[in-house]
Amino acid sequence: MPELTALRPATAVDIDAVSTLLQPEAKGDVILPRSRDDLFEHLSELLVVERNHHIVGCAALHVYSRNLAEIRSLVVAPSTRHLGLGRMLVKGCEAMACRLAISQLFALTYVTDFFLQLGFAVIPRESLPHKVWTVCIHCHNFASCNETAVHKTLNIKDYLQNDAH
Ligand SMILES: CC(C)(COP(=O)(O)OP(=O)(O)OC[C@H]1O[C@@H](n2cnc3c(N)ncnc32)[C@H](O)[C@@H]1OP(=O)(O)O)[C@@H](O)C(=O)NCCC(=O)NCCS
Repeated sequence: MPELTALRPATAVDIDAVSTLLQPEAKGDVILPRSRDDLFEHLSELLVVERNHHIVGCAALHVYSRNLAEIRSLVVAPSTRHLGLGRMLVKGCEAMACRLAISQLFALTYVTDFFLQLGFAVIPRESLPHKVWTVCIHCHNFASCNETAVHKTLNIKDYLQNDAH
């Protein structure tokens, strides 16, 4: 039977599944931990990928300012990796940013090559605004963190034109 895969905004019903997806990666210090309360408070930022009616991936788009947003909490379940779902989630965040008229997107990551394949480029972490680090200072790895900052400029006009058809 063909697999049914869908990318969609998360709903409150999805939060338990999203939390379960994030936990092992947060424990392994690959992403920042997020409480269920925090996920509910930022529900409108979240996208999920559903495959055969199970949540197998998630990502969030967090807006910092007039023209800057971050992709965070990007996780695909280990059993469904390398099927294009991570790419689908990043593209979904890009579409969300374009609809919000935000063209500057960044991520802090250990999977730099994954983002490079999607058109991101490495930037100096110091070039990110100060407020980005207000979340990171709560991480126990803050002092020794060696995540890479990656950045992409989105073409909002192209996106909106293509989206209209
Ligand atoms: C990173 C992650 C989201 C990728 O998800 P995915 O669904 O496997 O990614 P895709 O299938 O869309 O990958 C597209 C391409 O990106 C590259 N890629 C995928 N995972 C990669 C990784 N871990 N490192 C480097 N390149 C990677 C590959 O070239 C891949 O193509 P291929 O499968 O044909 O080789 C997933 O591995 C994951 O959840 N990792 C743990 C959490 C994490 O690191 N999140 C990122 C936080 S910023």
